Amino acid sequence: MGKERIIVAMDIGTSKVTTLVGDIDNVDNLYIVGFGEAKTRGIERGVIVKSNDVVRSIKESIDMAESTTGSKISSVIANIGGYHLECRNDMEEISFENPKKTITANDIAELTAKATSNIADEEHQIIHVIPKKYILDEEYSVIDPVGLYGSKLRGEFHIVLNKTNSYMNLKRVIEAAGIRVLDFVANPIASSTAVLYPEEKDMGVAVLDIGAGTTDIAVYKDGSIEYLKSLPIGGNQITMDIAHRFKLSKEEAEDLKVNFGTAVVDYTPDEIIEIHPRGSEEPIHISQRELADTIEARISEIFELTLAELEKEGFIGKINGGIVLTGGVANTIYIRELAAAVFKTNDVRIGKPKDFKGFADKIAYPQYSTVIGMLLFKKNSIGVEQMPVVDSKSELNIFEFGKNLIQKLKNLF
Ligand SMILES: Nc1ncnc2c1ncn2[C@@H]1O[C@H](COP(=O)(O)OP(=O)(O)OP(=O)(O)O)[C@@H](O)[C@H]1O
Ligand SMILES: [Mg+2]
Repeated sequence: MGKERIIVAMDIGTSKVTTLVGDIDNVDNLYIVGFGEAKTRGIERGVIVKSNDVVRSIKESIDMAESTTGSKISSVIANIGGYHLECRNDMEEISFENPKKTITANDIAELTAKATSNIADEEHQIIHVIPKKYILDEEYSVIDPVGLYGSKLRGEFHIVLNKTNSYMNLKRVIEAAGIRVLDFVANPIASSTAVLYPEEKDMGVAVLDIGAGTTDIAVYKDGSIEYLKSLPIGGNQITMDIAHRFKLSKEEAEDLKVNFGTAVVDYTPDEIIEIHPRGSEEPIHISQRELADTIEARISEIFELTLAELEKEGFIGKINGGIVLTGGVANTIYIRELAAAVFKTNDVRIGKPKDFKGFADKIAYPQYSTVIGMLLFKKNSIGVEQMPVVDSKSELNIFEFGKNLIQKLKNLF
């Protein structure tokens, strides 16, 4: 009988907590077999500001995911983001006395340990050590050196760090909801994993995941991650700008934005929209272009900040694969055109999550790139053999799972 590998991802975003139950079959297809979502309370700009509220949101999201699969979830992989994220690129080398030595997994572990030992300190927690490439005998660039001969092995790594305190706070709220954290995946890594094509990574590409509270930037070059950064700005600011300008509550402003908002004034029709401002007895009429004007200003600012970041890091002229926009704000009409103008390139596309099956009517949208990417990243990086395995004989110590139900769900796809 084929083995089923079950893995649960939880994206705790500024606006929503999404839980996905993923099932990976023996030919590596990812099926989504459970979905839960709750509005987030207690997070601003990707940072926990009221932990009890966050705990409640996590529980609601998990409850819903459990009810869609009919099984109990006890552990997850969780996302980590916010402006405390940092990255470094590092290169390490080891030489062997025996010139015809076969490289082993232990050698890779030694290289990786060297890379982490350079940066480990009390204030930082290492989230990822991602191998970018290995070079054998200063000559051959190889993807996986294990089993090959060589006398010298060089490894290039991308290391992602977070402030220890914010890492501990996140872990604590998830545990307070009764859930064990198996591992963390950094937001920019997750969303880019879900949306990018290999050719884009090779050519050089910048992914912008614009969520409610943060804009996560990831830059890929020569096939692998080169840089990431999280800016504390996102769709909530657009909503607040609309609320201030038109004297609306946050909820009314959000509805107005989502239903009528566009990102470029010049492309927007001069339609009249009726709104009900605070303190006004009568409804008033605004032009859709006034709304577009507010949205264009804020999204332009997000793009300008990103551009400044890319310039500072020396990526301008090196990202020939262009720009990929994802996250909830990427749903804004004409955002692609605005990005093309600010970044001065026509190579801008909207990135939706790909490479999964199931629940597509709900989750094949830019706001789910992070949570799907977490599952894909985990699937690609840890190797199938290390995944929690669920089969008919196992103890299901990761979590109890309604195996028959999953099979039924999968038969629907
Ligand atoms: N159709 C739409 N038009 C404009 N904005 C939209 C649309 N749909 C969603 N958004 C905006 O996207 C944002 C939510 O995006 P997303 O779900 O990616 O954020 P998040 O993951 O909760 O937050 P973060 O990643 O910043 O912590 C909100 O600001 C929301 O208003
Ligand atoms: Mg997000």
